[in-house]
Amino acid sequence: MNPVKVGVIGLGTVGGGTVNVLKRNANEIARRAGREIHVVKASARDLSRERICTTEGIELVSDPFEIVTDPEISIVVELIGGDSIARDLVIKAIENGKHVVTANKALIALHGNEIFPLASQKGVMVAFEAAVAGGIPIIKVLREGLSGNQVEWLAGIINGTGNFILTEMRDKGRGFADVLAEAQALGYAEADPTFDIEGIDAAHKLTILASIAFGIPLQFEKVYTEGITGITSEDMIYAEELGYRIKHLGIARKNHSGIQLRVHPTLIPERRLIANVDGAKNAVLVYGDAVGPTLYYGAGAGAEPTASAVVADIVDVVRTLTSDPGNRVPHLAFQPDALQETPICAMDDVETAYYLRLTAADKPGVLADITRILADRGISIEALIQKEPLSDKPDLPVIMLTHRVQERKMSQAIEAIEALDTVSGSVHRIRMETLG
Ligand code: NDP
Ligand code: HSE
Repeated sequence: MNPVKVGVIGLGTVGGGTVNVLKRNANEIARRAGREIHVVKASARDLSRERICTTEGIELVSDPFEIVTDPEISIVVELIGGDSIARDLVIKAIENGKHVVTANKALIALHGNEIFPLASQKGVMVAFEAAVAGGIPIIKVLREGLSGNQVEWLAGIINGTGNFILTEMRDKGRGFADVLAEAQALGYAEADPTFDIEGIDAAHKLTILASIAFGIPLQFEKVYTEGITGITSEDMIYAEELGYRIKHLGIARKNHSGIQLRVHPTLIPERRLIANVDGAKNAVLVYGDAVGPTLYYGAGAGAEPTASAVVADIVDVVRTLTSDPGNRVPHLAFQPDALQETPICAMDDVETAYYLRLTAADKPGVLADITRILADRGISIEALIQKEPLSDKPDLPVIMLTHRVQERKMSQAIEAIEALDTVSGSVHRIRMETLG
C-alpha cells in the first residue's frame, strides 16, 4: 500500500518531537499501522530557525494553510496551539476531507462542540490524545478501556508545569518565577504560561476528560478554576506536618445534583500514590463503578512524551482510514446523539474539607472567637495548630483542617473570621480531598 501522507503544522517542541519519533520508529510504526507514514510537508513561522528535528525530505512552508489545502495530504497534525488560527486551520482541513490529529486542548475545549459534528458530517477523524496529560493515553482509557463503567469521579494532576513548580518549591525551596522560567526553557509551558499557573490549561483538559467520562458536551466556561500562584512554601510545610501534600488537581465528580468540575490546589493525604507524583509527571485517578479506582501515570509534557501520544493518534487514524465512519469510536466516547445536558454544580454547592491558614493576634480568646464562628455554621475542626511567628511580628499563624462542609458555608465563615479585629489579612483556604 502507498504510504500515508501527513502534514505537520508547527515544528516546535511537540512538532519537532513528533517528526523525530515518526522517523526513528518508522519501521515499528509501519508494522503497527499497516502502512508507512510519511511527513511530506511541515510549517513553522520562522523557517530559518534551528529545529530539534531533522527536516530532510520534508517540504517546509511558512503558510500553514498550504498544508490544509494540499490534496496530497490525508492527515493534518496541528501543533501550533492557541484557539484562533488553529481553529481556522482545523475547520479548513476537515472541510477539505482531511483527518486531524492535534495536541491542542484549548482548541478542543473551546471549539470541540463545533469541530466534532463537522468532522462526523465529513466522515473524518479528529484525534486529540496528546491534548490531555502528555504521553499518558488517558483519552483512550476513558473512551475505550473503561467503556463498561459508569465513571463516578476522576481527579488528576494534569498540568506538568504546575506540578514541576510545586515540586521544586517543596523539595528545593526554589522561587516560583525561577522554576517557571526553567519549565519554559524545557518546553513544558504553554506559549502564555499564565495558562499553566492560573489553572486555565488544566481547566481545558478537565473539560475534555469530563466530556468523555460522563457523556456531556464540552463546557469549559463552567469549570471552577484556581491556579497555584497563591500557594506559599509555608503552606507546603504545614501541609506536610499534617500528613498531606499540596497538588494542583482537576476534579470531575458526578453526584445526585449534577457534575462538579473544578481545578484548584488540593491537600491530599501523603500516603496516596497520586500525592507522590512529582516534577513534570502527570497522573489521573479514575473511579469506575465496575473497576473501582484506577491510576494512570507518566510524563505530562515534553517533546517526545507528547509525540508518543500524537503518533499513537496518527496510527489510529491510519488503521481506520478505510473503515465506515459510522463505526469508528466516537470522538467524545459517547454517540453524538447520546450526549446529555447534565447540570454542572455551582462551586458554592460543592462539599469538601478545608485547610485554613490565617494570622491572629497572640491574645486570650482569639482562637475561641474563630472556632465559635466555625461551630455556628456547623463546621467541625479536625486539627488546629498555632505556630510560632514566622518573623519578629507579634501575630501567630494559625492552621486548621476542617471536616467536610459546603463551600457556601465556608465562604461565609471566612468572611466572618476576616472581619475579626484580632485577625489580620485574609484567610487562606485550600480544599482537601481524601481521594479514598
Ligand atoms: P511551540 O511554541 O514549541 O511550537 C509551536 C510551533 O507552531 C512553532 O513551530 C511555531 O513556529 C508554530 N506557530 C506558532 N504560532 C503560529 C502561527 N500563528 N502560525 C503558524 N505557525 C505558528 O509549542 P508546543 O510544541 O509546546 O505546543 C504545541 C501544541 O501542543 C499546543 O497546543 C500545546 O498546548 C500542546 N502541547 C504541548 C505540550 C508540551 O509539552 N509542550 C504537551 C502537550 C500538548 P516557530 O517555531 O517558527 O515559532
Ligand atoms: N503546558 C502543559 C503542561 C503542556 O505543562 O502540562 C502539556 O499539556
